[in-house]
Amino acid sequence: MTSPVPFVEQIAAVVDASLKTIAALTSSEEVAQATPGLVGKKSALSQLKSSMGSIADSEERKSAGQALHAAQTSVDAALAAKKSECEATEMAAQLLREQIDITEHLVAGTTRGRLHLVTQATQRLEDVFIGLGFQVAEGPEVESDFYNFEALNMPKSHPARSMWDTLFVESEEPGSVVLRTHTSPVQIRVMQNWPPPIYAIMPGRVFRRDTPDATHMPVFHQIEGLVIDRNITFKDLAGTIEAFTKAFFGDDFTSRLRPSYFPFTEPSAEFDIRRANGSWIELGGCGMVHPDVLRAGGLDPEEWSGFAFGFGIDRMAKERHNVEDIREMYTNDLRFLRQFSS
Ligand code: PHE
Repeated sequence: MTSPVPFVEQIAAVVDASLKTIAALTSSEEVAQATPGLVGKKSALSQLKSSMGSIADSEERKSAGQALHAAQTSVDAALAAKKSECEATEMAAQLLREQIDITEHLVAGTTRGRLHLVTQATQRLEDVFIGLGFQVAEGPEVESDFYNFEALNMPKSHPARSMWDTLFVESEEPGSVVLRTHTSPVQIRVMQNWPPPIYAIMPGRVFRRDTPDATHMPVFHQIEGLVIDRNITFKDLAGTIEAFTKAFFGDDFTSRLRPSYFPFTEPSAEFDIRRANGSWIELGGCGMVHPDVLRAGGLDPEEWSGFAFGFGIDRMAKERHNVEDIREMYTNDLRFLRQFSS
């Protein structure tokens, strides 16, 4: 009797042939079709498994079993690797087929837009104050009477309320909701929410019942500043305004403070800046935060002191760019707006 090919060699030959078959597969469909023939009940591997019983020597049978197990593992692994390789290629091809081109083709000669000059001025102001160590905060445009007036030391029927021509919103109690007349209410919100020391600026839109003319708009922009720390004095206020004036307008500009009145600051001042040609323009109001306002913000006036300022951004943009009539900034005439490329 010719001795049969040793069992382990038969296994090696089957593995070899299986791996070659697998390597030649090119799609997940082919993999699915070939799988039963490679590892199914009728596969060469399964046949070897069933013929294992005929090995008489138990040692020999044991090592054949181990070799068969290893063979099964390597064929399974090769098949699984092939399957995921094919699936990945097919998925990539499908994505490529289904890809949507969202490239925008600009008509030749189309130009990019630019920021409105008030936005440009706001960003420049923010840059300058951030450079001085301030943080930026924002508050709501529709405000309660409490934040817009009461907390700013103007109880109901306080005559100073007439300094602002208020627009009321019909909601809740008549007169209890307003379109904010200034950015000062954000001072209170910042004090209530940020632990001192506070170095903050608060830009935003404000609203007044005003008829538009060359220097007024019923909707305009202010930037509020608030500093709260220990031992803050009027000198710090004047120094900050001067540093800001030079940083924003240039070294040949200076600032001055004139005594004034605001219910929420004491003492209060108005500040002007001097242009290179020697003329002065009024920019806004400022002063030392009133103790009642510190209390409304939840701070102890014995421990904390501070200053605040507020000025019109539109007016600054108007001055910086020599715009004659402030209404021009809001008519959306592109010929006007295009002149200001920052
Ligand atoms: N809120 C004031 C105004 O709108 C300006 C101001 C702000 C004055 C802060 C003093 C301190 O006119």
